[in-house]
Amino acid sequence: MFLADTLNDLVYKPIKKPYEIWHKFMEQNVEFWLPESEWHTKTHCARVLFLALLIGHQKGLSAKEIDALGMAAVFHDSRRLDDGIDKGHGRRAAEYYKDYCRGHDLPYDARTYYITYYHDQDDSLGLSEIAKSSSLSERAILLYQIFKDADALDRFRLGPDALNVNLLRTEEAHRLVNFAKYLLQKSRKTYS
Ligand SMILES: [Fe+2]
Ligand SMILES: [Fe+2]
Repeated sequence: MFLADTLNDLVYKPIKKPYEIWHKFMEQNVEFWLPESEWHTKTHCARVLFLALLIGHQKGLSAKEIDALGMAAVFHDSRRLDDGIDKGHGRRAAEYYKDYCRGHDLPYDARTYYITYYHDQDDSLGLSEIAKSSSLSERAILLYQIFKDADALDRFRLGPDALNVNLLRTEEAHRLVNFAKYLLQKSRKTYS
């Protein structure tokens, strides 16, 4: 399994199970529109999954909240039409997630839908839409920030200067900058 040996490190034990579940789920069930993508691959989504679960664990999220992040990680870039900004791929991926839940045995979580929907938009828009929604509590804002930080931490794949660390939203993500670089190096060594 992708990143399996990193997961066996004791420090990451608490996220091992949800990581394995959602990674396997992605490999077996999530269909990507751009399978030949250079930048938005399943390995990108796996690293985002790892980082989102790690920040989520450090923030003390519940198991359900952790799963909401896991589902967002494995669906968020599945409906891209190109490797550029492609605004709207978040909305398409969110609809895919919702449809998938209707047709399969996967629990629908409104937080996953909103995080996925607005992950490619400015925080100001995402945060205001989440705040407006009657189906979401304030915790959804925290989940959105964690997810966007995890996605941002994998920007080092685009180049050494591709992440502006000043824009990271959570303390935990700030502390994971070097780990994110390590995770990327490790996956490049193993999978290229
Ligand atoms: Fe995206
Ligand atoms: Fe992404």
